[in-house]
Amino acid sequence: MSESLSRGERLEALRQEALSCRACPLWETRTNVVFGEGNPDAPLVFVGEGPGAQEDATGRPFVGRAGKLLDECMAECGITRKHVYICNVVKCRACIREAGKVQNRAPRPAEVAACSRWLDQQLTIIQPLVIVCLGAPSANAMIHPGFRMLAERGQWFDTCRYAPHAIAALHPAYILRQQGQAFDETRRSLVNDIEAARKKVIEARRAPQRTLF
Ligand code: URA
Ligand code: SF4
Repeated sequence: MSESLSRGERLEALRQEALSCRACPLWETRTNVVFGEGNPDAPLVFVGEGPGAQEDATGRPFVGRAGKLLDECMAECGITRKHVYICNVVKCRACIREAGKVQNRAPRPAEVAACSRWLDQQLTIIQPLVIVCLGAPSANAMIHPGFRMLAERGQWFDTCRYAPHAIAALHPAYILRQQGQAFDETRRSLVNDIEAARKKVIEARRAPQRTLF
């Protein structure tokens, strides 16, 4: 693809391709491929786990209850969707039917591996300075395998191949399952991690760019 295309144009071409993907069994139950959206030139990218019911229905990432919480926490750091790009490790909803109800489930490693063809190209186009992984499946795929969320969240890693700095935060859907003080504490931890990411972007922009010599 021509280098003269903007990031937005290259992402849109990639999205068009992804809309007909059948590389893993999740295509069979999806309504929409949720490719991701936001500012193609954003220095800060959030990578979640995968679409839920609202996302599947609309084709847009983080538009359900978890997304509302994420928006609120970003807003507390002065960040809006226009400042960032948001996507997921898998682009189609992973769910199971249990007692007649359709429930979300974590994506399987084989599904994450199949879908990395899209995430890989997406992040290669965007080239963010900072990535925030929301939840363990994202941190496993982006930071290191066997990521232990409760022990390792809020720490900076330079092991993500798509950005010089990566951090993992609690998934907003996990926070929504907490109650009382646990809810307040986990919510606070997400705000703190987003704030740390905002500061890291500023710091990384000031740092001398890597050069060939
Ligand atoms: N949870 C996710 O991980 N991603 C979404 O897009 C929505 C909910
Ligand atoms: Fe393709 Fe990813 Fe959807 Fe699987 S989850 S069908 S790999 S877009």
